[in-house]
Amino acid sequence: MNRIEQTLSIVKPDAVERNLTENIKRVFTENKLKIVQEKKIQISKEEAAEFYKVHQTKPFYERLCNYLSSGPITVMILEGEDAIKANRRIMGATDPKNAEEGTIRKQYGLSIDKNSIHGSDSIENAKKEIEFFFKN
Ligand code: CMP
Repeated sequence: MNRIEQTLSIVKPDAVERNLTENIKRVFTENKLKIVQEKKIQISKEEAAEFYKVHQTKPFYERLCNYLSSGPITVMILEGEDAIKANRRIMGATDPKNAEEGTIRKQYGLSIDKNSIHGSDSIENAKKEIEFFFKN
């Protein structure tokens, strides 16, 4: 029996703009990930820079922060058995070109930057990322 975990998911600007949020939420619920909290927001470039701080030395950091703050996003807490790994499997590879059939990024991702969705990659980061968006 796997443990019940929570993880953070972000529907990125490219997917919100194309009205894909409901389709993406359906993929989660069909895969036994419950959406326990959800909000649609727009963040500043500074907030995006803080959120993606782990990538601050990467050449794509500036572009990434500009992009995440470029339009509305939907942030969600997902809960379920082994949720962190399950969510990453459902999302597919970072670059939609390499994502497996049936994954969200394969179906909806446009490019490595506009890859429609973000998901926490570890228990530690899931905790931090949930706190970042859902303090109190
Ligand atoms: P995400 O899972 O949100 O985490 C960081 C994001 O950086 C990633 O999805 C991609 O959208 C973006 N990115 C851009 N270029 C790269 C790259 N070369 N390697 C990894 N991530 C990249």
